[in-house]
Amino acid sequence: MIELQNLSFEVHETNNGSDTIAVRSIISDISFTFESGKIYAVTGPNGSGKSTLAKLIMGIHAPSRGMIRFMDEDITGMAIDERSRAGIAYGFQHPARFKGTTFRDLLAIASGQDDEDTLARIISRVGICSMDFLDKPVDAKLSGGEIKKIEMATIIARNPKLAIYDEPDTGIDLWTIQPMVDLIRRENRKNNATTIVVSHNRAFLEAADTLLLIKDGKIAYTGDMDGAESMLDDQGVCTLNDLCREENNAECYR
Ligand SMILES: Nc1ncnc2c1ncn2[C@@H]1O[C@H](COP(=O)(O)OP(=O)(O)OP(=O)(O)O)[C@@H](O)[C@H]1O
Ligand SMILES: [Mg+2]
Repeated sequence: MIELQNLSFEVHETNNGSDTIAVRSIISDISFTFESGKIYAVTGPNGSGKSTLAKLIMGIHAPSRGMIRFMDEDITGMAIDERSRAGIAYGFQHPARFKGTTFRDLLAIASGQDDEDTLARIISRVGICSMDFLDKPVDAKLSGGEIKKIEMATIIARNPKLAIYDEPDTGIDLWTIQPMVDLIRRENRKNNATTIVVSHNRAFLEAADTLLLIKDGKIAYTGDMDGAESMLDDQGVCTLNDLCREENNAECYR
């Protein structure tokens, strides 16, 4: 389980990189406990702070205030690699591409194994059935969906205790989304892990045990999908529904 206590993240906006002209709050005093064995969906409008929250948990950003405890240990000051060894894995919203590296290299590093059978089993779980794919370079030529599948494979290969997926369905074809949801569920159950999925996709939101709605860097709602929808309807935010519910809402496009 992972516990966030009064977590805040601020950035200092500067004038030509020198004097601070304003302090902008991106994550504001978030407290929440993610339990083991559960799947959490984190959703909310673009720019509300979801990826920033995920990066704070992974240690990519250091919080301005607050504490993060993972399995009863204070990890607030822990570096990314230590968090990774402790069992936290994060899949970027926009995964990096590594020139000169193949999918085989990434999987071998993630799983600690390099035999063909193991690697074949891992890639088949993310819907890749061709062994030829293993020797593809992880470079700019990969499609958007392929790179997301590769990243998901490197996460499941590690059997993390906390898996964080940032918009795993970006670029993923319609036929693969539900199998991806099912895979995340199976993996979470198998490892008795905690899974946090940042998503705008209904399939992921419905699969979660608890949904967190982030708005302006704060948790605006926690609960189930029905409650979230009625709350969004009240506020006229068109994040979950394609249709805009309110006239004159600047956040909605027509
Ligand atoms: N290191 C940073 N420095 C300055 N601003 C930042 C930094 N990181 C994030 N932001 C800003 O904080 C806000 C929240 O960003 P974040 O990426 O967390 O949004 P998000 O909820 O994941 O959005 P989306 O749904 O579009 O992925 C954005 O306005 C972003 O520009
Ligand atoms: Mg994001």
